[in-house]
Amino acid sequence: MVDQGVDLSVEVAGMKLRNPLILASGILGITPGTLKRVERAGAGAVTTKTITKEKKSGYGNPVIVELEYGLLNAMGLPNPGVKYFLEEMKEMKKMLEIPLIVSIAGSTPDEYAYLAKIISHAGADAIELNLSCPHVEKTGVEVGSDPDMVYDIVKNVKIASNKPILVKLSAMTPSIVEIGKAAVDGGADGIVAINTIRAMAIDIYARRPILSNKFGGLSGPAIKPIAVRCVYELYEAVRVPIIGVGGILNWQDAVEFILAGATAVEVGTAIAIRDLNIFREIKEGLIRYMIEEGFNSIKELIGIAHVN
Ligand SMILES: Cc1cc2nc3c(=O)[nH]c(=O)nc-3n(C[C@H](O)[C@H](O)[C@H](O)COP(=O)(O)O)c2cc1C
Repeated sequence: MVDQGVDLSVEVAGMKLRNPLILASGILGITPGTLKRVERAGAGAVTTKTITKEKKSGYGNPVIVELEYGLLNAMGLPNPGVKYFLEEMKEMKKMLEIPLIVSIAGSTPDEYAYLAKIISHAGADAIELNLSCPHVEKTGVEVGSDPDMVYDIVKNVKIASNKPILVKLSAMTPSIVEIGKAAVDGGADGIVAINTIRAMAIDIYARRPILSNKFGGLSGPAIKPIAVRCVYELYEAVRVPIIGVGGILNWQDAVEFILAGATAVEVGTAIAIRDLNIFREIKEGLIRYMIEEGFNSIKELIGIAHVN
């Protein structure tokens, strides 16, 4: 979309986005109405909360702790299960004009493929494989830190689905590049980096961990430099688009990720600690920056921080 003479549109794995700003998975509910509000707020695409095969009630309270530089959460991937979700998805597809990315998680390559198949048929514009949740057993980072497993999951999903497959990775691995390459070898159409980082907080008067699950995932500004580093490293190693996520609070953060090599960025915690106006503010900031710095298209900025 050309706005005030600059073009913010990008293409990610075949999806045309009016701007590079995407709602990150899990931050707002999964009701069609909420996602429509995100569209109206200015996002270029939305990602749903992670959906699993069976319903999950999540952990007991407390599931979230607000820290000085971010949020610590251990929700436990609460979701209504894929069968119920498919009903909601029909409504989402009717209401939304921007691409709908559906996040899924399973424990085995077959389970990921099963979910990807039915969600692709139901009309998702892309599937995001959550291979990186740091606080739920037998899924997420537990399967996403083994390159062979990542390759198998993506390969099976590609056979089962005709939609673009985005693979969401964790920074909690010795080499995100190795995992990213395994995902691309398996057929990934894009990489999303990064999910939250396993962390904890202790109540000094109760003298106990605050989260009911003890451990959770850290998000927000605290993890931004780690996420920027991951995007930068991946950009030098893979030839698929990268979606950067982790601690984006303002337009300057978004520019930093794009210069590191992100084609688009996801915004999560900023919405929880601020509100949906963040999309409009980031978009306006990007436009101002491009006019002042003499860029016509946001695509000209992707990866240009790389020096030989
Ligand atoms: C409350 C909460 C719930 C989340 N739920 C999910 C989820 O269901 N699936 C997923 O892939 N990531 C989930 N995430 C991770 C975010 O999508 C994102 O990768 C991470 O928070 C870093 O970005 P941010 O700093 O902009 O929030 C969740 C994050 C938070 C804070």
